[in-house]
Amino acid sequence: MADRKKSGSKKMWGGRFAEATAASVEAFTASIHYDSRLYRYDIAGSKAHAQMLADNGILSREELQDIISGLTAIESEIEAGTFTFRQDLEDIHMNIEKALVDRIGPAGAKLHSARSRNDQIALDLRLYLRDECDRLGGLLHGVRRAFVVLARSYLGAVMPGYTHMQRAQPVLVSHHLLAYYEMFGRDGERLQDCRKRINSSPLGSAALAGTGLPIDREQVAAQLGFDSVTANSMDSAGDRDFAIEFVSCCALIQLHLSRLCEELVLWSGSEFDFVEISDTFCTGSSIMPQKKNPDIPELIRGKSGRVVGSLMALLTLVKGLPLTYNRDLQEDKEPVFDAVDTVSASLAIMAELLGNLQFKTTRMREATATGFITATDLADYLVLKDVPFREAHGIVGNIVGLCLERGCELMELGLADMQRFSRVIEKDVFEVLSVDGSVESRISTGGTSSLRVEEALGAAEKLMGIA
Ligand code: ARG
Repeated sequence: MADRKKSGSKKMWGGRFAEATAASVEAFTASIHYDSRLYRYDIAGSKAHAQMLADNGILSREELQDIISGLTAIESEIEAGTFTFRQDLEDIHMNIEKALVDRIGPAGAKLHSARSRNDQIALDLRLYLRDECDRLGGLLHGVRRAFVVLARSYLGAVMPGYTHMQRAQPVLVSHHLLAYYEMFGRDGERLQDCRKRINSSPLGSAALAGTGLPIDREQVAAQLGFDSVTANSMDSAGDRDFAIEFVSCCALIQLHLSRLCEELVLWSGSEFDFVEISDTFCTGSSIMPQKKNPDIPELIRGKSGRVVGSLMALLTLVKGLPLTYNRDLQEDKEPVFDAVDTVSASLAIMAELLGNLQFKTTRMREATATGFITATDLADYLVLKDVPFREAHGIVGNIVGLCLERGCELMELGLADMQRFSRVIEKDVFEVLSVDGSVESRISTGGTSSLRVEEALGAAEKLMGIA
């Protein structure tokens, strides 16, 4: 060994190397500048691992004590901001392990028995994502709650419902709002479902093949709150589909936010003029003094590109990777973290923004007055009078044609005008043609009548813990 000249820092894996790593390589391969975020999980995993090693005779009780108190001290230093992360130590695992060895000596060097960084990073990421599923669930809850509060305060207000961005049928504003409550509810369920697959411990898979040392994977799993241990060591070392699934949940959340934001941008503009976003949640233009811009919804909409991009990055990352661990997998973390940060920030600000909205209900109702918005109701009216729906559709189409010719709305036609197209039309038709009549008629399950919306709102308030 004496003739082998090494410079630079000594690597924990450096035994077989004669020369020091090039500085450029250290800089290129390091992940500590982003994976330091995982320190808490890395330490929790190491503590559980050490406990199990001691229970199985690989560590003495004193060694275990030293390791536990050493790790606790390191955690406090990191939390206090006094810990120095070193790029030459590559990643969070080796930064903490090195600090432990420096602090407690040889006992620290025993910690990595029966473990590899391959199962260690898989463990850390699973612990981290499990927490993030719960945290994002809380943020989703906040957004859903805000929708329910809005739906309650605007109950009774009507607006046009749209298909193809054309006025289609009148709906309750609350019905529209509760549509988002449902969307974000599914997002929450998806995260909880994803969490089930995250919540299985890969530790003990070691590098890829398991270990011959006497370990107890189930014990570690139980201590860390996992539901199970993963079944196949090779799969566990190379699998990242739990992370991909998680980011795909994030992408859907961000897309749902983006659809909402698109509506807020449109609705706050003068073309729609349906909603007023409070001054505190808008910004002005540096050149046009009259402007009040909906920057928050625009930015959230814009950020959907980042989250979808993160998902694409992860999908592409695992495409073509042979089993088991490959260093490529280190590239999983930045997209995961960026997706978490983007979705978290977007959900948090959206919950606040929803509390700073005012709907212009008069404007919304006015918008239902044009566009033959109750034409379907007229067709349904004919169906109830035994006219086959296709025929009814044709009749109403012709009536709308007459309106277009005259430049009037359905309501403005006389009874005689309509009777020219169908003899079954009677005076009671005008009730059907009214916006409120239309809304209130839609009593099918999940429909927009106040009866159904009240029910949905009541159930939502119960679930959201609103009295
Ligand atoms: N920093 C690595 C990562 O994020 C940890 C695992 C490294 N394993 C290895 N054999 N180099 O993937």
